[in-house]
Amino acid sequence: MRIIEASQVADVRAGEIPRHLGVIMDGNGRWAQMRSLTRSEGHAAAEDAVVATVDACLDLGVEWASAYAFSTENWTREMEEIAFLMRFDEWLLRKERRDELNDKGVQIRFCGRLDDPRIPADSRDWLYETAELTAHNTRMVLAIAFNYGGRTEIVDACRRLVEAGVPAAEITEERLSAEMYAPDMPDLDLVIRTSSENRTSNFFPWQATYAELVFMDTLWPDFRAGHLYSAVAEYQARRRRLGAAEASPRP
Ligand code: IPE
Ligand code: IPE
Ligand code: MG
Repeated sequence: MRIIEASQVADVRAGEIPRHLGVIMDGNGRWAQMRSLTRSEGHAAAEDAVVATVDACLDLGVEWASAYAFSTENWTREMEEIAFLMRFDEWLLRKERRDELNDKGVQIRFCGRLDDPRIPADSRDWLYETAELTAHNTRMVLAIAFNYGGRTEIVDACRRLVEAGVPAAEITEERLSAEMYAPDMPDLDLVIRTSSENRTSNFFPWQATYAELVFMDTLWPDFRAGHLYSAVAEYQARRRRLGAAEASPRP
């Protein structure tokens, strides 16, 4: 993907901004391996990339930014790595970072199976505390997908409808959307994945059906604002038809 020049950022700002932008933060392990560091050290190095992403999204006026922090499939990793990833208050959003984001007007939300008993109790407390602390912020929502799986989310939504006794004939896309982890989350417009992997790995499949996908070679810890602006420039160059026929020029 073409990385744009700093002088072109003004054009990106003036163009159509994705309302909801998602990042699949991949490549921490490979970044660490290249430096003979542990995988956990690779995750720790991801924090600056998250902050750069949030700042660039705030600059562009993105309303929702989602970040994939831990998938339901990531439980298959080594115990030591999982233990580190569960301490997201250390590798992703330590207290000072959280306070900074709060000061910037960012509402932090978590999407996933948060009641999973494998999540340490103090991490869960911190997560709820963070959501509560920032709930009043309106400038941007940062939705962290944590113990998140798109299929699990859809199953959980179906279960809630069944538990509420909703008759089959009344199950619509709108009803199901209203049972997702963040019912007010708009559909994803742009999903960026780093580290040269061209797949979405169970990241918001319900909300990303018509998202534009941008895959980048950069490993997540190296991701900075310039990469985000470049991905948005790529998005702005795409033609989103959303199933409609291309408007043909009048004869
Ligand atoms: C992504 O980096 C971060 C998480 C899954 C938490 P990886 O840990 O998947 O890094 P690679 O893909 O092994 O390089
Ligand atoms: C996706 O990355 C999950 C996160 C970024 C948290 P993975 O590294 O787990 O995905 P795969 O295994 O390459 O599909
Ligand atoms: Mg990976």
